[in-house]
Amino acid sequence: MDDLRDKYLTAIAGAADESALESLRVTAVGKKGEVSLKMRELGKMTPEERQVAGPALNALKDEINSALAAKKSALEDAALDARLRDEWLDVTLPARQRPQGTIHPVSQVTEEVTAILADMGFAVAEGPQVETDWYNFDALNIPGHHPARTEMDTFYMARAEGDNRPPHVLRTHTSPVQIRSMLDQGAPIRIICPGRVYRADYDQTHTPMFHQVEGLAIDKDISMANLKWVLEEFFSAFFGTKVKTRFRASHFPFTEPSAEVDIQCSWEGGTVKVGEGDGWLEVLGSGMVHPKVLEAGGIDPSQWQGFAFGMGIDRMAMLKYGIPDLRAFFDSDLRWLRHYGFSSLAVPTLHGGL
Ligand code: DAH
Repeated sequence: MDDLRDKYLTAIAGAADESALESLRVTAVGKKGEVSLKMRELGKMTPEERQVAGPALNALKDEINSALAAKKSALEDAALDARLRDEWLDVTLPARQRPQGTIHPVSQVTEEVTAILADMGFAVAEGPQVETDWYNFDALNIPGHHPARTEMDTFYMARAEGDNRPPHVLRTHTSPVQIRSMLDQGAPIRIICPGRVYRADYDQTHTPMFHQVEGLAIDKDISMANLKWVLEEFFSAFFGTKVKTRFRASHFPFTEPSAEVDIQCSWEGGTVKVGEGDGWLEVLGSGMVHPKVLEAGGIDPSQWQGFAFGMGIDRMAMLKYGIPDLRAFFDSDLRWLRHYGFSSLAVPTLHGGL
């Protein structure tokens, strides 16, 4: 028994890992292990012999079991220590650089414009960028022969050979969304439509794709006075300072009367400052929706009337954030984007000061 004891305790002490320990357990105290076999021999002994050998064998079994348990937890501790040694982390190291994008000024200004006009009760409407010529022109009282069609430098889509229907166009303005919204919702109506528009034009102040926001308010008693109030409230909130507007008589096929709207500004030292001085800067077209346009939108012009306006979003961004060249907006130059971009966490709200 002493031999068995020495043999196993030495082996257990020297076990290298848990599987070695497990096979020692099986050969020593497992069902067919050496100690268990010895215990079976107890039956052949005399009662006197058994009284001595029985407790001794049990004590040996207990001793081996507790040596196994102690060694097992020692091995586990050692394994944990090894992991702690190997898998350490230096939490004082500088974090790895993560590329972080910025919000494009056009997106930012679209959000700002939407926040202000939504606060005044305008809902956001959308329409397709590939538009039929009816929505883009005819329904807006721009018939086929009208000079505005050619003035707009329209991009035409291709038709299949032999298909003689008029081609679709890339919408040249957001005004077709007026018609779509009228047909969808009927009157009364109060919507804005921000979005991309396209014209074949390219220089420092023109890009073939740019952004507009359309406004439309139709009800029983809406007048130019409401338009002027809405625009002055809008510009004052947008520029964060009281801004006066000046209405100049103009002409658009889809409004009657029509007005081009200037905002008050100063031109000191070659930079524009909105909301001060006695200069004026043209920023949008507007007017009272033409009866023919209401009709095209399925709205009875003898019962309803309202105003519309269309404004360049990119232009607003240039003015508000002092960005000189329009073309750079769409160059995707990372240096420009980092310089003029906005943090994605700075979500514009009226109460947050836009
Ligand atoms: N659609 C015009 C353009 O792109 C802008 C415009 C002028 C929109 C007058 C309007 C409006 O809604 O009433 O040049």
